[in-house]
Amino acid sequence: MKTNDIQFLYPKRAFESSAFLPEIEAFRNFGFIVENNPQEDAQLILYRGFILWKQSDYPIDKRIWQGWKEYQATSLLSIYYPLIADICIPTFFVDELDQKVIKREMEKRKLECVFIKNDVKSLFCIDETASVYPKHSLLEIKENLDKYPPFEGAKYAIRQYVDADWTQEDRYFVINDRIFHRSGIIPPVVQEAAKRLKPLGSHYYVIDAMPDFIVEVNPGESSDRYGDNPPELFASWFKQALSSL
Ligand SMILES: Nc1ncnc2c1ncn2[C@@H]1O[C@H](COP(=O)(O)OP(=O)(O)O)[C@@H](O)[C@H]1O
Ligand SMILES: [Mg+2]
Repeated sequence: MKTNDIQFLYPKRAFESSAFLPEIEAFRNFGFIVENNPQEDAQLILYRGFILWKQSDYPIDKRIWQGWKEYQATSLLSIYYPLIADICIPTFFVDELDQKVIKREMEKRKLECVFIKNDVKSLFCIDETASVYPKHSLLEIKENLDKYPPFEGAKYAIRQYVDADWTQEDRYFVINDRIFHRSGIIPPVVQEAAKRLKPLGSHYYVIDAMPDFIVEVNPGESSDRYGDNPPELFASWFKQALSSL
């Protein structure tokens, strides 16, 4: 498929956002259609933009490449984790942050410290340790996590605390079953994860990984391209991956 048959559908406010404007311009320069509502000429439509928290916000059009189900499956750790459990940070899931239950599960797994997420997001953006229990109380962690809009179907993810050199974490884009990274090098653990995640049915998503384990998966709709990936390179990945459709 040619780039002018393919539309990137962004919400209106993305056209004023410094997070999205550079890629919007690059997609346009590559010949993709970029608009905030589905265009007649488009044969295939990909949503890009801010995180969507509920199904009713997911755009509807017969030409949209993937839907809420695939978006949700690459957002919620509790859905994709079972497919990659042995190559990912050890994690268990709870419906409530109940101290008794969490302490019991931590003892069972011999964990002294855990990193708590709401199934999609951590509190790392507030402060490096804000998601770490028992450094912070469960009440404080819950209060902060519950400030995010509720994501349909989400649980709390309790992950083993990993003391690592996190500067080695990197993002790999999976588009139409091909994996992209600016170095051209895809670690075996990322290749293995992409193979295992195929049943989720997502056509575009990202894998965040350390050299030898997976950190998290995110949907291609809302994941940023990271500053290290120039917008033209990002657009070229989509052009290459979609040309075989
Ligand atoms: N289990 C963990 N233990 C310690 N630090 C972690 C752990 N998981 C993630 N981190 C750190 O927190 C950052 C954000 O975690 P991540 O799972 O990617 O959540 P988010 O969805 O908020 O990006 C990671 O980039 C890493 O630096
Ligand atoms: Mg992350």
